[in-house]
Amino acid sequence: MSGQDHVVIFDTTLRDGEQSPGASMTLEEKLQVAEILDDMGVDIIEAGFPIASNGDFEAVCEIAKRADKAVIAGLARAINADIDRAGDAVRHARRGRIHTFVSTSPIHLEFQMKKTEEEVLEIITSTVTRARNLIDDVEWSAMDATRTPIEYLSRCVEAAIRAGATTINLPDTVGYATPDEYRAMFEAIRNTVPDADKAIFSVHCHNDLGLAVANSLAGVAGGARQIECTINGLGERAGNAALEEVVMALRTRSDVLPYECSVDPKFVTRASKLVSAVSGFPVQYNKAIVGKNAFAHESGIHQDGMLKNAETYEIMRPEDVGVKETSLVMGKHSGRHAFRQKLEELGYEIGDNAFEEAFRRFKELADRKKHIYDEDIEALVENEIATQ
Ligand code: KIV
Ligand code: ZN
Repeated sequence: MSGQDHVVIFDTTLRDGEQSPGASMTLEEKLQVAEILDDMGVDIIEAGFPIASNGDFEAVCEIAKRADKAVIAGLARAINADIDRAGDAVRHARRGRIHTFVSTSPIHLEFQMKKTEEEVLEIITSTVTRARNLIDDVEWSAMDATRTPIEYLSRCVEAAIRAGATTINLPDTVGYATPDEYRAMFEAIRNTVPDADKAIFSVHCHNDLGLAVANSLAGVAGGARQIECTINGLGERAGNAALEEVVMALRTRSDVLPYECSVDPKFVTRASKLVSAVSGFPVQYNKAIVGKNAFAHESGIHQDGMLKNAETYEIMRPEDVGVKETSLVMGKHSGRHAFRQKLEELGYEIGDNAFEEAFRRFKELADRKKHIYDEDIEALVENEIATQ
C-alpha cells in the first residue's frame, strides 16, 4: 500500500443493478458475476435482497458459501422479518454483512412511510440493534439522504451508530445532489455527530443527472471511505456510479485523488462484457473505460499522434483495463500515416504512386461506407497492384 487512504469498494450489481427493469439474472449468472467480482478484489459484494424472493435468498446463500475474499452483504428493509432473512442468508459467508435501510426525507416519510420523524428514529434504533444481535458487520443507509434536512439526518446517523451500525451510507437515492453539496453533507455529518469516527461512511450515488461518479468522488473528499457502485453503472433508472469509472479515476488521477482501492482494473473489461451479456443491457459505444470506442481512434490527427506517442490522446493504457490494444479505426477521418501502418499490418509494401492511388480510393470508399474492414482495404490494394 502506498500510504494513501484506503477506499472500500462495495459492488451492488447483483442488488441495485439487478433492480433495473429487465436486468434480472439467473442463479448461475449471478454466481458467475460474483466470482469475477471476488477475483478482481471487490471488498464487499451486495449479493441480493434475501426477503424479495426465494431465488434472491438462494443466490445470496450460494454466493456467501463460495466467496473467497469478499464480504457478502444482504439487503433488508427496516423490518424484523427482512433483517432475520438477510441474517440467515449471509451467515454462510466467511464474512457477512446485513445492510438495512430506512427513508429519512420528508417526502418519503409523508408519502411512503407515513411515519413521523420520531417514529423513524425509534425504528432505526430497534432495527440496527436487531441486526447487530445477529452479526457484527451492519451497514445502515438513510434512503434519500440528500433530500433530508441535515439536522434530522444527524440525529438519524447518531441513532444508527449508537445502536451499533459499523458503516453509515448516505445515498443520493434520486441522483439529485451536486458534488459540492454531497461533499458538504458528509463534512457536516462527520463534524456534528458524536462518535462519527466509530463508523465508516459510504457513498451511494444514482446517475439521474449524470453526476454519480463525480458525486461519489466528492463524498470521498468529504470523508467517506466506502464507494457503492455497479459494473457498467447498471442500476435503477439512469443507473448507479460505474465501478470501472470510479476505479480508473482513483488510479489515473491519484495526484488529486489521494486514495487507493483493492480492485485490479485488469478485470473490468471482462466483468463489463459478462454483466452486459447476463443482464441483456448493451454497453454504449462511447461508455468511459469499457465502451467499444474507449480506446479507438479514427481522426487522422489523433491517429498520427497515437502512432508517435500513445500519451498524446490516451490518459490510460488499454492493457491496464484488460483491453489488448488501442485500435486505430480506418474511416474517412484517417490520414496517410495510419493508412500506411494498416497496409504494413496487412503485409503490403507498395511504391509511392500506388500508395497515393490506394489512399485516394480508400478516402472515396470511406465517404460512402460507414465501416471499413481490413477486407475492403485488401481489395482496393490488390486492385491497385493488379492494374499497375
Ligand atoms: O439508492 C438507494 O437509496 C438504495 C438504498 C437501498 C441503499 O439503493
Ligand atoms: Zn440505490
